[in-house]
Amino acid sequence: MNQENQQNQRNKRNKRKDQKPRIQKNQKQQPKKFKTKTKKNQNKKNEFIFGNYSRYYGYRLVNQEKDPRINILPSKLFEGKNCLDIGCNSGFLTLKIAYNYNVKSMVGIDIDNSLINKAKIRNRKKKEKIKNKFIQEKIKEKLKTEYGFTKVPLSFLVNKDLIEMIEEDEKKKMIENEEIQMPNIEFRQENFLDNLEIKEKFEVILCLSVTKWIHLNWGDLGIKKMFRKIYDSLEVNGLFILEPQPLKSYIKRKKMNSKFAHHFKRMKLPPEEFETFLTKEMGFILKSKLDVPHPSTGFSRNIYIYEKSKELKELQELQQESKELKELKELQEELQESKDSKELKELQELQELQQESKELKDLKEELKDLKEELKDFKDLKEQLKDFKDLKEQLK
Ligand SMILES: C[S@@+](CC[C@H](N)C(=O)[O-])C[C@H]1O[C@@H](n2cnc3c(N)ncnc32)[C@H](O)[C@@H]1O
Repeated sequence: MNQENQQNQRNKRNKRKDQKPRIQKNQKQQPKKFKTKTKKNQNKKNEFIFGNYSRYYGYRLVNQEKDPRINILPSKLFEGKNCLDIGCNSGFLTLKIAYNYNVKSMVGIDIDNSLINKAKIRNRKKKEKIKNKFIQEKIKEKLKTEYGFTKVPLSFLVNKDLIEMIEEDEKKKMIENEEIQMPNIEFRQENFLDNLEIKEKFEVILCLSVTKWIHLNWGDLGIKKMFRKIYDSLEVNGLFILEPQPLKSYIKRKKMNSKFAHHFKRMKLPPEEFETFLTKEMGFILKSKLDVPHPSTGFSRNIYIYEKSKELKELQELQQESKELKELKELQEELQESKDSKELKELQELQELQQESKELKDLKEELKDLKEELKDFKDLKEQLKDFKDLKEQLK
């Protein structure tokens, strides 16, 4: 390093030193400023407290074209059925199930309105795509039958202008005449726990990766409330498809806020015990347990398929009633026994008293006799004395 460079370096160092405030000998040092929690940070922390991630499928489906759950869930579970998806997020999986599996109807609900709006837009686009595809097929047919085309190039069919060239009225007619089969789909913003009144019933209810958020926000009570509402909203023999997040995935989230920490600490019904709760206390039958492999281990979760069984519920209620009846009977017997033993004791005491009073009476009699005897004895003694006196006199 040449001299000029060295001098430059020195100058720079001095300049930096000059910028630092120097502390005088007797001057009090200011306390160090720690990084405070800014409002922005706080808001960010509380942004997704319901698991309402706006880009959920972006990171759940990383490096994958399809949601692996779609391949695992059998289509026959949904075909021609009225379905409900609780916590549908932006409707990605909800719509896949609805359109690919030909449901009769699908209601998707989510607590987050912005996600519901996204789901509605997604559905509108999907419908448009299906209609356009249908019209393309119609054009293809027309070109073949009316204009003698033997082969219609794909590039020709996907041409948007061509579709737009056709009058709206004609499009409508094409669709109405053929009646495209489209499921009835509705998305609405709703907190599932808000209203427990059952206004509509379903044949299939999906609850995928939602339980953790219910658990952390509303505790065990919230989870039980949700299971009860799901049970009541299902038709008899209806299916409840549940994908619970495992307990270990709660650990990180419980630190999000003090309410989460509180509910986590007091948890008595961890996800690992949902199965026992649903089958032993609620009247569900476990039909199958599906293992869903996922490239990211965080999302390798099981899916449980439960059936609402009325007979089982009635049987459980009957068993409970007969158990309570048995307990009542035992209690009555115990009571009777204790009552009996009390009466017996009193009787014994009475008998003892009677015996004592009889003995007392006998004693009294004896005393009376003795007194009589004593009196006789005294008389005799008197007589003897008189006799003695008489004898003396005679002498
Ligand atoms: C992690 S995402 C799962 C999305 C989707 N079910 C899936 O598995 O692909 C959880 C969703 O549940 C929603 N959610 C949480 N609590 C809810 C509640 N009480 N009622 C309705 N939706 C809720 C969130 O807004 C979020 O979109």
